[in-house]
Amino acid sequence: MADLKRKENHMENFTFYSPTFFAFGKETEKDAGKYVKKFGGSKVLLHYGGKSAEKSGLLDRVKKSLEEEGIDYIALGGVKPNPRSGLVYEGIELCREEGVDFVLAVGGGSVIDSSKAIAAGTVYDGDFWDFYQGKRIEEALPVGTILTISAAGSEGSPDSVITKEEGMFKRGASGDAIRPKFSILNPELTQTLPAYQTAAGATDIMAHLYERYITNSTEVEVTDRLIEALLLTMKYEAPRVIADPNNYQARANIMWAGMMAHNHSCGVGRSQDWNSHTIEHELSALYDCAHGAGLAVTMPAVFRYVMKHNVMRFAQVAVRVWGCEMNFENPEVTALEGIEAFQKFLISLGMPSNFEELGAKKEDIPKLVEVLCRGDGRDGTITGFVTLDEEDCTKIYEMMV
Ligand code: NZQ
Ligand code: ZN
Repeated sequence: MADLKRKENHMENFTFYSPTFFAFGKETEKDAGKYVKKFGGSKVLLHYGGKSAEKSGLLDRVKKSLEEEGIDYIALGGVKPNPRSGLVYEGIELCREEGVDFVLAVGGGSVIDSSKAIAAGTVYDGDFWDFYQGKRIEEALPVGTILTISAAGSEGSPDSVITKEEGMFKRGASGDAIRPKFSILNPELTQTLPAYQTAAGATDIMAHLYERYITNSTEVEVTDRLIEALLLTMKYEAPRVIADPNNYQARANIMWAGMMAHNHSCGVGRSQDWNSHTIEHELSALYDCAHGAGLAVTMPAVFRYVMKHNVMRFAQVAVRVWGCEMNFENPEVTALEGIEAFQKFLISLGMPSNFEELGAKKEDIPKLVEVLCRGDGRDGTITGFVTLDEEDCTKIYEMMV
């Protein structure tokens, strides 16, 4: 493990541009057509996933809203969780043929990310996958979202994650051009979620907060405190919503927390980690598990492995969020207690804690490490809070068994 010596960086310079318009609350999806018009759309690609939006009647309500505003649309469903490149290519072709000028996502992170990829790919001359190999997205069709699961935060983020079928590389792309122009957040729409998906979503939200908390920057108190507030909110609300799926207040708080966790307001001015996400992405790519469930298994292992790099960071969150008592003689004890409390909490929500529960296989570890560290042009390492090489990543996956 490289970079074990702590770097001291104070609050860094940053730019922050987050122009998404949010409509939050009950029945807000009825205004979808108005918002599409407001943001310049006249021919829409209505993009959605499997059956959930059809079954709940949401898709029909959105179509009606578009029709009321006289907006033409074509529908493209079938986005799978951990969205694939094949449907993105199909969507790009369709948008070009039909002269689409606005992409409207109805669904979760997978649908939104597929929409963003289509929006960027439609106006790009080359292969859209270039963006997922590091090219920044500078231009895209406008995207709007109607969110149905609190999880990925894609409704407010400049990011998209797609899996390329050849090689099953799961990679991310970024650019302010794909930040949604508007996002409709009606917490009621999340009440049809199975408990497992609700819990996986909550885990992902907490992961987005942890990935930003685990930093080498010092004295960025404002974001430390924001993150702690959001983690405390999730600690309070997630069990309430698992106990009662129709608890609107809990769903509402989680939905807004999910947006705030990932529109980068909690990450400005500080370095961030993201190694847990990078390591998890290989699990959801290979086993098609829910991203949040993969994170529930990955995070505790990564945290235990890297915590010595800055024990006080982990001790601080243990005390401030998990209510652990500070052991001044040996802060490592407190740090570990915090990680354990977090893992127990995730298990109590119904999340897996090891490879077997996730459906992952020990014998695949060399393959996972190969794709993680070498796949798609990587140089043998991944980097974040610390730089991890193939040996480190092997040990981390072994800790999850
Ligand atoms: O396809 P349908 O039928 O809609 O079913 C979905 C899917 O099976 C179901 N679902 C969604 N809303 C529902 C519902 N079922 C009943 N009622 C509802 N209201 O839930 C399942 C999961 O949906 P998905 O969109 O995959 O979930 P999520 O929002 O967690 O998105 C996961 C994807 O986002 C990526 C992940 O890697 C993963 O590919 N991420 C995207 C990020 C971003 N763009 O900023 C950041 C994240 O860290 C993450 O990596
Ligand atoms: Zn995530």
